[in-house]
Amino acid sequence: MSSAQSRYHEVYAGWQSDPVRFWEEAAREIDWIKPAEKVFDSQAGIYGRWFAGAECNTCYNAVDRHVATRGEQAAIIYDSPVTNTKRSITYAELRDEVATLAAVLQDMGVAKGDRVVIYMPMIPETSFAMLACARIGAIHSVVFGGFAAKELATRIDDAKPKIILSASCGVEGARVIPYKPLLDEAIALSSSKPEACLVFQRPQLACALDEGRDRDWASAVDAARAEGRRAECVPVAATDPLYVLYTSGTTGIPKGVVRDNGGHMVALKWSMGHFFGVEPGEVFWAASDVGWVVGHSYIVYGPLLHGCTAILYEGKPVGTPDAGAYWRVISDHGVVTLFTAPTAFRAIKKEDPKAELLKQYDLSSFRALFLAGERADPDTVKWAEDILQVPVIDHWWQTETGWPVAGNPLGLGALPVKHGSPTVPMPGYTLDVLDEGGRSVGPNTMGAIVIKLPLPPGALPTLWQADQRFRESYLSVYPGYYNTSDAGYLDEDGYIWVMGRTDDIINVAGHRLSTGGMEEVLASHQAVAECAVIGVKDALKGEVPCGFVVLKSGIDRLPEEIEAELVGLVREKIGPVAAFKLAITVARLPKTRSGKILRGTMKKIADGDPWSTPATIDDPMILSEIGDALKARGLSG
Ligand code: COA
Ligand code: AMP
Repeated sequence: MSSAQSRYHEVYAGWQSDPVRFWEEAAREIDWIKPAEKVFDSQAGIYGRWFAGAECNTCYNAVDRHVATRGEQAAIIYDSPVTNTKRSITYAELRDEVATLAAVLQDMGVAKGDRVVIYMPMIPETSFAMLACARIGAIHSVVFGGFAAKELATRIDDAKPKIILSASCGVEGARVIPYKPLLDEAIALSSSKPEACLVFQRPQLACALDEGRDRDWASAVDAARAEGRRAECVPVAATDPLYVLYTSGTTGIPKGVVRDNGGHMVALKWSMGHFFGVEPGEVFWAASDVGWVVGHSYIVYGPLLHGCTAILYEGKPVGTPDAGAYWRVISDHGVVTLFTAPTAFRAIKKEDPKAELLKQYDLSSFRALFLAGERADPDTVKWAEDILQVPVIDHWWQTETGWPVAGNPLGLGALPVKHGSPTVPMPGYTLDVLDEGGRSVGPNTMGAIVIKLPLPPGALPTLWQADQRFRESYLSVYPGYYNTSDAGYLDEDGYIWVMGRTDDIINVAGHRLSTGGMEEVLASHQAVAECAVIGVKDALKGEVPCGFVVLKSGIDRLPEEIEAELVGLVREKIGPVAAFKLAITVARLPKTRSGKILRGTMKKIADGDPWSTPATIDDPMILSEIGDALKARGLSG
């Protein structure tokens, strides 16, 4: 389709000319208990608040309101090749499950504004749990299952949950991962103890319950159901938090991204139709994990707010059982739109480069593939276009924004594709690219990508109980703008090109991780004098972490032994998701004369990219030592 056939330019210009009217109209798609007094209150919050004075309930809009019109339609289809299970849950059944679980939470003393940590695998009960919290105005905080106990403990300490919801185990490919020991250890480590835990026993591995603290999920729900107890939807302010989702910051302490109720619903509902081009009643699949923002927005809330059928897939793109898994799910359930990370397609391509397995499945329902979470490299996008023969749409956003900042809006009519660019900003977002002095750099020049304030509905209003950290992390560097911490450029057609981060965040298989956090772990080893962690290019995962360590003098042990301990330590403290497999001992680290470690140059050396010796370097010889150390490990050097 050419630019002229897309409604994008007209719609974007309409938003620019009157943003308040634009969002007021979008808000008509939501059922409000009380309408907003002000669609946008520029005096409230840190940069203003959306739908101030309104009252609503997110669970009502995602579940209850569909029961009359589509009660027998599947709301969630759980497809789990790893447990050989398929389960379809209608909207009517979902309301029953969620209202009953919400009554159990109320019995456990959970009320509006209380936090509930959810540490669970990809099972329907996790979606029920999130929606049950939303129903009673409790604030959920889902923690991804691949994080270690210490990471869970950090989040517990920050969110201070009244209760924790968990399950006995996760299933990762062929492995059953016990969750309960991690939960127990995290609670032992944390200084803010929950009053109770509700634990879902999975048949793959049951766990022992702590008598004083733990309750069995199934028996609590059964008892509530037998007594016919169901919680009603509790009215909350549109500006009240729906959830807190922790994401990697530049230190080991994660940032608690706050999502409100009203703006979030409006933005997600708008995005489902106008961006993804999906109709109510259609089957939408985001192959991610509920522990990430993609899971929150597009496994749970977005598709349900839109009256779609949401797929909840507990499996991998490859190995469960093979590289045809995605095609099997699409054809079994009539999926129209799949959203996943490019790394998943790289994994499929690696195993089945000619997509032979695709021939076994009927993909006639399938209309589009959406990729996000990391840069979509042109090779992967072209391969996917080639094999699927449907639009493949790169779109760019962050945990903080909650929904796409830029993309190719299929619902409004797609614009011409430029491989490597996530296309154009969505209504709500004015993008600019600034130099270090905060000046706009003009087309085709790299700089810091920023969003003009105010952020649109759905984006974070602040960090959990950390307004000052919110200001410092995002707003203070470029006054009047939100700093995305992504670097890139706008081209002459207004397309955005997102090339990498400006901070120490790396993207490993679509998972966002802090190298600073990993450095803190390495530095805690008693043999380590100093260290630096960088992300190095990886054909499958995009990037993988690589840690350089300098040992304390007088350490009389084999470096290989210490390196293995360091790999184990990151796994233990951060979790397997960090994919930290490479620790390299070196004699010294390259630094500037003022003592700053030259991580950027080390990365270029490791990636085999052109590099030059920085003028400020203290001792240029050290860079060749780094190169030699990498070569010794078979890395580019
Ligand atoms: N619970 C416990 N452990 C988990 C976990 C979970 N929920 N999720 C991942 N892990 C573990 C994995 O088992 C693996 O452990 P290992 O080192 O013992 O093998 C480790 O964390 C790294 O996981 P991952 O990065 O997922 O690598 P992988 O090799 O298992 O799979 C891909 C690679 C590309 C197939 C996989 O990353 C994938 O499917 N990605 C899809 C993209 C995605 O979901 N992105 C989310 C944002 S959209
Ligand atoms: P997360 O908060 O985990 O969603 O990670 C957000 C970060 O992932 C962004 O700041 C980018 O660095 C990166 N990212 C996500 N989507 C894209 C994309 N389409 N293109 C380039 N980078 C992306």
